[in-house]
Amino acid sequence: MTSPQRGDSFTHPDGRQRFFALVPCAGSGSRSGAAGPKQYESLAGRALVLWTLEALARVSELDGTLVVLSPGDDQFAALAAEGDAEAASACWRANVGGGTRAESVYAGLHDLLARGALPSDWVLVHDAARCLVHPDSIRRLIAACRDDAVGGLLAMPVPDTLKRSDAQARVAETVPRERIWAAQTPQMFRIGVLRDAIAAGFARRDLLITDEASAIEAAGLAPRLVRGDFDNLKVTWPEDFALAERLLLGRAQTSKAHA
Ligand code: C5P
Repeated sequence: MTSPQRGDSFTHPDGRQRFFALVPCAGSGSRSGAAGPKQYESLAGRALVLWTLEALARVSELDGTLVVLSPGDDQFAALAAEGDAEAASACWRANVGGGTRAESVYAGLHDLLARGALPSDWVLVHDAARCLVHPDSIRRLIAACRDDAVGGLLAMPVPDTLKRSDAQARVAETVPRERIWAAQTPQMFRIGVLRDAIAAGFARRDLLITDEASAIEAAGLAPRLVRGDFDNLKVTWPEDFALAERLLLGRAQTSKAHA
């Protein structure tokens, strides 16, 4: 695998760095309690994934966004055809999602390359299920990582005391929380480096790739941690939908009051 070296410029032939967003959107959302995939649940009047894509569309640094869908997904195309779904209709789509998030991301990276992205371009992988991400935080991630040798991710320092449980949900130990961060997305790496790191991770039986950074770390590189926001939550559990909806409606009211 080619590892980036400090000082490598990785600029596009026209002299500009390029940034692509890749949105894995091929999960079944089995923990969410929803009848169908959680990314299509209605939140504050529109499908969850539309909020996510709208946030990405407000980041002008991005050169394009690819949404990775399940092979049989026809819900996204129907959504994108609706009147208020400009951000969705402007995205590239690939029905190449796999059985795990890492497989969906890996297939999406190949699709981006087939569309003309270069291995040296940056990709920002962002969960469809993180519909509350702030465009300003994405810009902050890009600014912090664009000249970094490795790349990085949004994350939050963990304020709580951490407990590891035994199989009966009793405390087995207290885990020291110093320097513990909760990983969020987007996670930003060079396309070629991430593709190779995930491929190497797939070949290892001892590694479960739950985010892009874990594959990059397994390749011996240290991603940069960039502070995210407490509300960039991944809608996962049944109760998350009501919370996410309250936060979205609160934001709409705040922006109306400022208008
Ligand atoms: O299931 P989880 O919440 O970890 O999924 C995180 C993101 O990855 C979601 O946006 C989901 O749609 C996506 N995913 C995927 N392919 C899978 C599993 C999850 O694209 N096989």
